[in-house]
Amino acid sequence: MIDEKVLIQKINEKKEIFVKNRRMFHRIPELGFEERKTTETICEKLSQIGIEPIRLEPTGVVGYIGPDSEITIGLRADIDGLSVKECTGLSFRSEHPGKMHACGHDGHIAGLLGAAEILKEMEERLTVRVKLIFQPSEENTLGAKKVMEQGVLDDVAMIFGLHLFSDMTTGVISVEEGPRMAQTDRFFIDFYGKGGHAGKPHQCVDATVMAADFVMSVQTIVSREVDPAQGAVVTIGSLHSGTQYNVISGKATVEGTCRSFSENVASHLKEAIEKRAGAIAEYYGGSAEVQYDYGSHPPVYNDEMFSKMIQSESQKLLEDRTFSHIPSMMLGEDFSWYQTKVPGVFAFVGCGNPQKEVYPNHHPHFDIDEEALSDAVALHIAAVMAAMNFEAEKPEYNL
Ligand code: NI
Repeated sequence: MIDEKVLIQKINEKKEIFVKNRRMFHRIPELGFEERKTTETICEKLSQIGIEPIRLEPTGVVGYIGPDSEITIGLRADIDGLSVKECTGLSFRSEHPGKMHACGHDGHIAGLLGAAEILKEMEERLTVRVKLIFQPSEENTLGAKKVMEQGVLDDVAMIFGLHLFSDMTTGVISVEEGPRMAQTDRFFIDFYGKGGHAGKPHQCVDATVMAADFVMSVQTIVSREVDPAQGAVVTIGSLHSGTQYNVISGKATVEGTCRSFSENVASHLKEAIEKRAGAIAEYYGGSAEVQYDYGSHPPVYNDEMFSKMIQSESQKLLEDRTFSHIPSMMLGEDFSWYQTKVPGVFAFVGCGNPQKEVYPNHHPHFDIDEEALSDAVALHIAAVMAAMNFEAEKPEYNL
């Protein structure tokens, strides 16, 4: 067993390193699958702490700590930035024009590197193997799949990951079982009518009216067709139709997204969108073409037993923090792909500084309270402690 007091002390002693690392990565944000500098820097850092970096294609890196155990726990951090022009004015702001770590992934990298350094120092006491997974391209939801295609999960029995959120105050943490983040689907619909003169509507089939009717009609899918306890979102993000005021539009284009937490709700939303588009177009004498991209990733669903185990270990390391119930979010996370293969837990970590004006994730002014970096480090270590307990107790569990 590893003494919690020693761990807490180590985390406290290394706070400055976590901050330094985070700031270093903050300067060099790169978009999905372009994280070359980021990957190189992570490799250098891993080598410095005695961990051999194993590069992934095209970007990303993994590394191992600990004995060749039956149980390997994966610790995952996403490493990509966003196409956002940074407006924070921070001394360590982005050096890459038009790109920014506006979602806190710089903090995720620093958190996992921090945990790696401490775990490496205690390597001989580990009874499970730790696999560090620095995953590229989370924002476009393609990274987890790409990593899995390269067999990264093949030797992993369970996985842990986390996200920093500024709309949660620093010190507030959620490690909860069940659905945590949504499945996200995307759809594109073209409504075809027959254009013509605004003064002769009887000779036309107005695509604008079709699209408008469709937009209003889908508003009742969630309120009337989905179990209120399950929750879902249908949002139309864009609608384009027509060219000028006295021309009836022959084509309207609608784009939107559906979010949900279960397979049956997700498939119902798809069916409902397709049915309405077709029926409404037909009703007006036009036609509709629907492209529905189902499940760019499934919902994030936390394993019950591991959530409890990791929360209990985390509380020992983070005594002054509040482990709260945070409702599941209608945001997406490709961490969910890992959870389709192995039991996994995804934690939410508050990084909103109550002393400052707080901007949400993805905002050009977004910043994290660097106090939260230690929480991220502690949570990764707690997940390893939970895996060690699991290894010691060997409960009947389908890994
Ligand atoms: Ni993010």
